[in-house]
Amino acid sequence: MSNSDRVVLVLGGAGTVGSGIVKALLDKGFKVAVISRDNSRLERLRAFVSPSTKDNLVTIMGNVGLEDEVEQVKQQLLKQVGKVTDVVSSLGFSWWQGGPPHTQTLKDLHWVIETLLFSTFVAWKAFSPLVRDDSNCTYTFITGGAGEKLLMPGTGFLTVGAASSLAFCQVLREEYPELPCKMNQVNIDTGVGTPDRMAPGYLNHLDLGEAVATLVERRNASHTVFTVRCPADLKTVILEKNL
Ligand SMILES: NC(=O)c1ccc[n+]([C@@H]2O[C@H](COP(=O)([O-])OP(=O)(O)OC[C@H]3O[C@@H](n4cnc5c(N)ncnc54)[C@H](OP(=O)(O)O)[C@@H]3O)[C@@H](O)[C@H]2O)c1
Repeated sequence: MSNSDRVVLVLGGAGTVGSGIVKALLDKGFKVAVISRDNSRLERLRAFVSPSTKDNLVTIMGNVGLEDEVEQVKQQLLKQVGKVTDVVSSLGFSWWQGGPPHTQTLKDLHWVIETLLFSTFVAWKAFSPLVRDDSNCTYTFITGGAGEKLLMPGTGFLTVGAASSLAFCQVLREEYPELPCKMNQVNIDTGVGTPDRMAPGYLNHLDLGEAVATLVERRNASHTVFTVRCPADLKTVILEKNL
């Protein structure tokens, strides 16, 4: 199956990490579908991708974190693209520094878990049946190293939310060891920025997108966690180990 025959659903594809992945997949000739709750983010994404690839980008408004709504969005998606061969799940948010736990409310914690874990779970439950039984298909989770440590004072709920996503991915690997679909996780243990918003050690979302798109394209690994701690890791951890 050539790239042009493959349809990649990028969940969170309008975000910082997701948009780099969407652009790279389109540049490699894939057809790409993105679902977002915010039409203006989808418009920005359409303006961001290479002009010659725009016709291969399908954008749909919707919330993939709600069980009722995700089924409607899924039907709309299938009507527009016919099939999905690959899923990249990059749901969540870029940063959270609401303060130490004693200053926070249950509502704050609920929002964090809803955005990082519930959306990842609900979307996986809805979309993984489209790909799970086919060894030519892939499902790739993007997670954050914040789940393993407190990044700095005031970021505690980010750690709680990110840790819940890490645990969910681990559960999937261990519950479904024989899954035909290539299920992988790219765990990013550093910041990710757009070229105009970079800091030392950060990954450029375009470079990260290129590495993730190559992982999807090659389909060599499964049940693997690729941990990326610095820009050089994109080459050594994802690309060279996955030739
Ligand atoms: N940015 C970093 O520095 C960094 C570093 C390490 C790891 N990561 C990980 O990368 C992932 C993405 O982060 P990001 O920086 O790209 O965040 P982002 O820019 O906020 O993008 C996240 C995307 O998730 C989508 N989303 C969340 N809940 C949704 C729902 N219920 N339905 C539909 N879409 C939903 C948002 O869509 P809407 O358009 O609908 O808002 C948004 O486009 C996260 O898991 C994060 O932990 C990020």
